[in-house]
Amino acid sequence: MTLDLASLRSVREFAEAFKARKLPLHILVCNAAVCTQPWSLTEDGLESTFQICHLGHFHLVQLLQDVLRHSAPARVVVVSSESHRFTDLVDTCGKVDLNLLSPPQKEYWSMLAYNRAKLCNILFSNELHRRMSPFGVTCNALHPGNMMYTSIHRSWWLMTLLFTFARPFTKSMQQGAATTVYCAVAPELEGIGGMYFNNCFRCLPSPQAQDTTAALSLWELSERLIQERSTPPSGALTL
Ligand SMILES: NC(=O)c1ccc[n+]([C@@H]2O[C@H](COP(=O)([O-])OP(=O)(O)OC[C@H]3O[C@@H](n4cnc5c(N)ncnc54)[C@H](OP(=O)(O)O)[C@@H]3O)[C@@H](O)[C@H]2O)c1
Repeated sequence: MTLDLASLRSVREFAEAFKARKLPLHILVCNAAVCTQPWSLTEDGLESTFQICHLGHFHLVQLLQDVLRHSAPARVVVVSSESHRFTDLVDTCGKVDLNLLSPPQKEYWSMLAYNRAKLCNILFSNELHRRMSPFGVTCNALHPGNMMYTSIHRSWWLMTLLFTFARPFTKSMQQGAATTVYCAVAPELEGIGGMYFNNCFRCLPSPQAQDTTAALSLWELSERLIQERSTPPSGALTL
């Protein structure tokens, strides 16, 4: 099934097509990401790394939440990264700043955009768990491994070079997938969520990733961004 996380329309179409199949949904892994992409805006007018890594997943889960609830026990697994530690997202009032998440071209640094999106992943996972666990849907976030030779480096030759040199010393694909699979199926994690895992062990993410106010602020901002892009502009004709 086709899903382009850079397009809210595509996410909606995917969710509708999935629902039409009337399948249960016990495990949803939010794994997709891009890294070191040149600055670009999506068709929804947001910076691409932010939309692909966070907002697309957020909308997908939002649209499938009733399916997840009906399928309970169900698990959402969000693949983040240790690189979430090298950034923050909030302004001086403690609110998540959209200008940091979806910056204009002159303020864009691709690695920083990735780090911020990975911090969003953990904040989203924590808030989702808080909202959905009463309904039997749990959520955990994780770091799969360092500099594994996947396709993540493909946007920039320098990253490809770095990943090539690191390759003999980093996890294989199978090892990299292990923590994701662990969070998705481990019996001992039944009913447990709002946590962050690395090497199949629970560990603490950065202080900002544990900030419940920032998690709520990101949730509300994400809802608003989607709502603004779902309603027709005022004055538009509705049939
Ligand atoms: N590799 C590492 O060292 C590393 C380290 C820490 C965390 N991670 C995390 O691990 C996860 C998996 O990354 P990976 O290393 O396996 O990279 P990858 O091989 O590049 O996989 C990323 C996946 O995201 C998909 N994707 C990209 N843009 C998309 C879009 N607009 N809509 C839908 N799908 C899209 C890609 O699909 P297509 O191939 O079809 O474009 C690809 O399947 C990511 O969340 C990443 O942040 C990786």
